Amino acid sequence: MAKFPELEALKSELLEQIEGAKNLAALEQVRIAALGKKGKISEQMAKLGTLPAEQRREFGQATNTVKAAVTEALEARKAVLEAAELEARLASERDDITLPVRLGPLAEGRIHPVSQVFDEVIEIFADMGFSVAEGPDIETDDYNFTKLNIPEEHPARQEHDTFYLRETTAADGSNRPRMLLRTHTSPVQIRTMLSQKPPIRIIAPGRVYRCDSDQTHTPMFHQIEGLVIDESTHLGHLKWCLEEFCKAFFEVDEVKMRFRASHFPFTEPSMEVDIDAAAIGKPGHWLEILGSGMVHPNVIRNCGLDPEKYQGFAFGMGLDRIAMLKYGIPDLRDMFAADLRWMKHYGFLPIDVPTLAGGLSS
Ligand code: DAH
Repeated sequence: MAKFPELEALKSELLEQIEGAKNLAALEQVRIAALGKKGKISEQMAKLGTLPAEQRREFGQATNTVKAAVTEALEARKAVLEAAELEARLASERDDITLPVRLGPLAEGRIHPVSQVFDEVIEIFADMGFSVAEGPDIETDDYNFTKLNIPEEHPARQEHDTFYLRETTAADGSNRPRMLLRTHTSPVQIRTMLSQKPPIRIIAPGRVYRCDSDQTHTPMFHQIEGLVIDESTHLGHLKWCLEEFCKAFFEVDEVKMRFRASHFPFTEPSMEVDIDAAAIGKPGHWLEILGSGMVHPNVIRNCGLDPEKYQGFAFGMGLDRIAMLKYGIPDLRDMFAADLRWMKHYGFLPIDVPTLAGGLSS
């Protein structure tokens, strides 16, 4: 090859470029510049035809030798660069499996105590054979008051601090019945008796609204209504049912209860129920937890049922209140402040679904 110094120079030039290629893309550029159709080695090959016949063979061989050396160097450099790139990727994509596990949404999210207590109460009453009934938050005056034996001008209407909706007129100019935000879940009693035949055994959990706000009152809160209507249910059943509920809900074997004579227009007789605070580990005083009674014959009649034939009991319970008692929550307003720190403290893990078999609150 000493005969062809230009080939010798080309070879060293190309080998130097190959060694100098910093990455695979640069190496590919070098390869194209050397061996591509218009590459420097291809250029030399093309010269062959212009040479005198006696030189061709030797020049051809010499060029092929250069080509072989360059090809070999390209492959060797490629292998080195590929290995280096793989190393770099492995280093940058390495996972440190000793880092602490990031908590997923299941462990981050919390169930609000109100939702938790809804689930607990539903679980207990479902086990006793009650089903869940629902009614709308926007009610008619008729269902919220009149059919519940609270006629117009009845003083109980004033006690409820009702939010009324603006009056609207129908297409014919007449006034539509004035709507309101239900002040209690009792209208679901009416809706149920109007739409189902006895025997009836329902609970109705939901939101209720009253224009009131302080440490123990918020304009929106939650109640759970109970209603049993058949031909033979009496006061003894009501007491048994509420006792069983309290034991299950507060997760204790015994609860001392006090049934106090009271007055509600939709029950006769009416009773307010207190429990001994020993149930929540603070013995020594009574806590009022609900109102109840035997459904007033007028209410049964207002729903198209015969009060001579049908009877039963009803109760209404403040859900937020029993949640606060059970879980030691001091201020009702915090329940609805949407403060994540509060939720972390008082909330429940989503996977801890309350069941009687597995434990309500564990
Ligand atoms: N609706 C009543 C209230 O909100 C609570 C209540 C009392 C409901 C007695 C009842 C009942 O079903 O029988 O103050």
